[in-house]
Amino acid sequence: MSLLIATVAAYLIGSISFAVIVSAAMGLADPRSYGSKNPGATNVLRSGNKTAAILTLLGDAFKGWLAVWLVTRVGPRFGLGDTAVALAAIAVFLGHLYPVFFKFKGGKGVATAAGVLLAIHPVLGLATALTWLIVAFFMRYSSLAALVSAVFAPLFDIFLFGENEIAWSVFAMSALLVWRHRANIGKLIAGTESRIGDKKSGAQ
Ligand code: G3P
Repeated sequence: MSLLIATVAAYLIGSISFAVIVSAAMGLADPRSYGSKNPGATNVLRSGNKTAAILTLLGDAFKGWLAVWLVTRVGPRFGLGDTAVALAAIAVFLGHLYPVFFKFKGGKGVATAAGVLLAIHPVLGLATALTWLIVAFFMRYSSLAALVSAVFAPLFDIFLFGENEIAWSVFAMSALLVWRHRANIGKLIAGTESRIGDKKSGAQ
């Protein structure tokens, strides 16, 4: 029962879309109406409002971190262990991708995954974030940075902690993240993907 409650709670936390909430609170256009139409920090940045993008990034990362941190810290009191952590990681991530509060139309999961990885272990989160930063710095594609990081995250996890349930959930998150970026992959191949800092018409 505790396992089910923890998993559902993680999914509900993940369903809070900070891109939509922050944009509405700051009087900006709904990110689902411009640019890539993705409710995520990268697309909010296309509005030209860096503060909104940073708040979106922090909010989406925080919810991923919170869901896993709660299960890690509070879970053991209810007999929950690694299985609950692995399920909470996937559940909060799925909440972001398919949010119950937003007609199941969510984001691509990059910031939320970063929060999840930080909560699993800071070294895992920082190594993956560093991978993102290096690719983003040199290539200036947010999506490419996310895709490369998604490949490395499960490898970092297995290298650090060995193969276990949590490593499998990190692998599943990465696979879902790549799937959610399939349109970006097409644009990267076609050479039409927008670079970090590009603005899109329709954004305010
Ligand atoms: O965080 C999502 C990013 O990797 C791609 O976003 O808006 O360019 O599709 P976007």
